[in-house]
Amino acid sequence: MTTMNPSIAADELALQEHEQEHAVDKSNPQDTIIEDGKTVGAPFADDPKYKLRNVEVFYDDARAIKNISLDIGRNEVISFIGPSGCGKSTFLRCLNRMNDSIDICRVKGELLLDGEDIYRSKNDVVELRARVGMVFQKPNPFPKSIYDNVAYGPRIHGLANRKADLDEIVESSLRKAGLWNEAKDRLHGMATGMSGGQQQRLCIARAIAVSPEVILMDEPCSALDPIATAKVEELIAEMSESFTIVIVTHSMQQAARVSNRTAFFHLGHLVEVNETTKVFTAPEHQLTESYITGRFG
Ligand SMILES: Nc1ncnc2c1ncn2[C@@H]1O[C@H](COP(=O)(O)OP(=O)(O)O)[C@@H](O)[C@H]1O
Ligand SMILES: [Mg+2]
Repeated sequence: MTTMNPSIAADELALQEHEQEHAVDKSNPQDTIIEDGKTVGAPFADDPKYKLRNVEVFYDDARAIKNISLDIGRNEVISFIGPSGCGKSTFLRCLNRMNDSIDICRVKGELLLDGEDIYRSKNDVVELRARVGMVFQKPNPFPKSIYDNVAYGPRIHGLANRKADLDEIVESSLRKAGLWNEAKDRLHGMATGMSGGQQQRLCIARAIAVSPEVILMDEPCSALDPIATAKVEELIAEMSESFTIVIVTHSMQQAARVSNRTAFFHLGHLVEVNETTKVFTAPEHQLTESYITGRFG
């Protein structure tokens, strides 16, 4: 029978403890397996503008969105965050059927706007786009005058019969976009002659000119300098009184500044949705924590 020398046993124990204390977690957060359709936190809302259930999006056979269910509350500002390629833009484009224009793209699941299925074939996409405006990453004014850019939507949707009514819509939209003072003396000058930040606010004015209910923004500030970014963020805060706003952003600081709730996407899954302050101070999911602390991205 062998008995272990007690001093050796103590040494081994000390060594073990030391190893445990200094253990490096070598697991890659990105290897975490997420169950389909499993989102932690608070993905649902009391008064949903959008009710989205079991949404899947395919590009040919590749499943880019993996069984996502989410409510978007009326008049809330919700941010979509997550590493590049995780599906933020794809999911955003479902909300106004912008994916329809991509041939190989198929959308499955239930997508209700005010209780109505927006993918029912009888529903008119033009009408949907009037209710759900969109602002893109790169300002994309039409090569027309400032006035004609803002008047474009109201004209095609027949919202103003008289010139005076159209003038009124153009002015109020530019005011809401914080651009009136800079634009009022050059309304008939080319929109493309404005600075990038002004062009983006013009695109916002163009989007709100048809009085939409929802505004989708896909990284609206990523081509802007910090001052222009601050102006757009201020605008988002003001607009949230009248619209439901969904904003994709690669800037966590921006998500923290502008949104009520934040949704974290990863590899086509919706990992966590919570009040923005919670996401950034006490995230529920390990992956969210890894992402917001910069362990991957
Ligand atoms: N038009 C497209 N055709 C084929 N695959 C696409 C297309 N757009 C996006 N994808 C793929 O879908 C996934 C999600 O992309 P995307 O929605 O652009 O992510 P994010 O906006 O988060 O960067 C990626 O794998 C991307 O390659
Ligand atoms: Mg994108």
